[in-house]
Amino acid sequence: MIIKTKKLQGQVALITGASSGIGAGVAKALANEGATVVINYSSSPEKAEKVLAEIKAKGGDGITIKADVSNEKEVSDMFQQTIKRYGTVDILVNNAGLQKDAKLHEMTLEAWNYVIGINLTGQFLCSREAIKEFLRRGVVEDRSKAAGKIICMSSVHEVIPWAGHANYAASKGGVMMLMKTMAQEYAPMKIRINSIGPGAIRTPINHAAWQTPEAYNQLLKLIPSKRIGEADDIGGAAVWLASDDSDYVNGITLFVDGGMLLYPGFEDNG
Ligand code: BGC
Repeated sequence: MIIKTKKLQGQVALITGASSGIGAGVAKALANEGATVVINYSSSPEKAEKVLAEIKAKGGDGITIKADVSNEKEVSDMFQQTIKRYGTVDILVNNAGLQKDAKLHEMTLEAWNYVIGINLTGQFLCSREAIKEFLRRGVVEDRSKAAGKIICMSSVHEVIPWAGHANYAASKGGVMMLMKTMAQEYAPMKIRINSIGPGAIRTPINHAAWQTPEAYNQLLKLIPSKRIGEADDIGGAAVWLASDDSDYVNGITLFVDGGMLLYPGFEDNG
């Protein structure tokens, strides 16, 4: 019997798109709870190494792996490399995602396919590889009550329509049903699958929304809590969903949005 001093001790977590933003915050939070982290990145090895160095400086451990999550072969190679190195994978955080915004009548098919490819198909490809491994290994009771956990990074835009971002909003609506369907399919095998739905979090993806005081004040009109979110806010939610503390939680989206989904426009209207 191993005595666990940290919630994720002895578990291996693969986080996609972890070289910056929410993914980096989640990798640090999981490592802080004892998980060994695989930091996936697509283009910037320096940034991924920097995240890993910060984790190691605090006593954590892990590796970085380059892979484009929309590429079937690169995804399967990434999982093989992880399993070869650490024996298995216990936690997948489907975090990689991006925006390529345009008015719908001006949106190119390339911009549509690019966003759907990374944000939605990428989550399918990574989940498929993780689930194969979870099914092969089954539950190891010293590590977790679950055979595996998947956390899908969704968005408030799985619910809120977003003019000028049809590809992004459609990808997140798709993530919601992918997550729920996978959760229904694999809950009997003790695999837990949930989403986090962040609101506005201070990361490079929405730089324009918080970089000037004018933009920030405009953004705050959408946030009842009257502050932008930080990557740490998402890290805490990820630790909970990855740990046995949430063992009876399956198929939900945990919104971490400062109340953005409370229709703040109705505060003094309607
Ligand atoms: C988007 C951000 C946006 C936030 C709230 C996120 O999913 O990526 O750009 O600030 O939703 O609208």
